[in-house]
Amino acid sequence: MMTHEEIVQAAKPAGTGLGIRPMLQSDAEQVLAIYQAGLDTGQAGFETTAPSWEGFTAGKLAHLRYVAVDTATGQVVGWVAASPVSARPVYAGVVEHSVYVHPGCQAHGIGRALLEEFIAASEDAGIWTIQAGVFPDNTASLALHDRLGFRVVGTRERVGRHRGLWRDVVLLERRSAVTGQ
Ligand SMILES: CC(C)(COP(=O)(O)OP(=O)(O)OC[C@H]1O[C@@H](n2cnc3c(N)ncnc32)[C@H](O)[C@@H]1OP(=O)(O)O)[C@@H](O)C(=O)NCCC(=O)NCCS
Repeated sequence: MMTHEEIVQAAKPAGTGLGIRPMLQSDAEQVLAIYQAGLDTGQAGFETTAPSWEGFTAGKLAHLRYVAVDTATGQVVGWVAASPVSARPVYAGVVEHSVYVHPGCQAHGIGRALLEEFIAASEDAGIWTIQAGVFPDNTASLALHDRLGFRVVGTRERVGRHRGLWRDVVLLERRSAVTGQ
């Protein structure tokens, strides 16, 4: 069985075209390898190890999971997925998402393409607020979300421990102008 690192290296795409499609179970290894590569940067999330596929999918909304693929090779180059923030009916249209792009393919518009697709799909599905927590040092993620209409709600101070350090998290949200009016 290949390690996450080997899968990420093997998956470096030819880069001719980009497609966005729903995430499939057959994407599991590539999705989790990209997830692990993001976590390995130390700036993507509190987790240090990507979960199993069962653990990954358990909390995620099945209709709001997408992958970006290199259309020439079919290889997965990024993904986006979301979880409900609460079981309370009042928050039924509020989700928290994650977006991860293959480390060899970043800064080529893939994160933007994934998030644009995700925003449109979520609005179609009745979601009115999308939120995300981002480490203050994650410049790329803050820039991406700013471009797509997320605002900074505030900075949560020393809210969780990561690799032995208490870390701040910037809470972002995007309120739809078309859903939930
Ligand atoms: C954060 C991440 C998803 C961004 O995806 P990406 O494909 O690299 O970003 P894009 O190329 O789509 O860029 C989107 C916008 O952000 C800007 N941007 C991207 N990287 C940037 C950086 N390092 N510094 C400043 N701006 C940056 C781009 O200029 C672009 O703006 P524009 O469309 O106005 O030109 C990607 O870097 C990643 O997967 N990082 C590791 C995992 C991670 O941190 N995920 C987020 C967890 S909250």
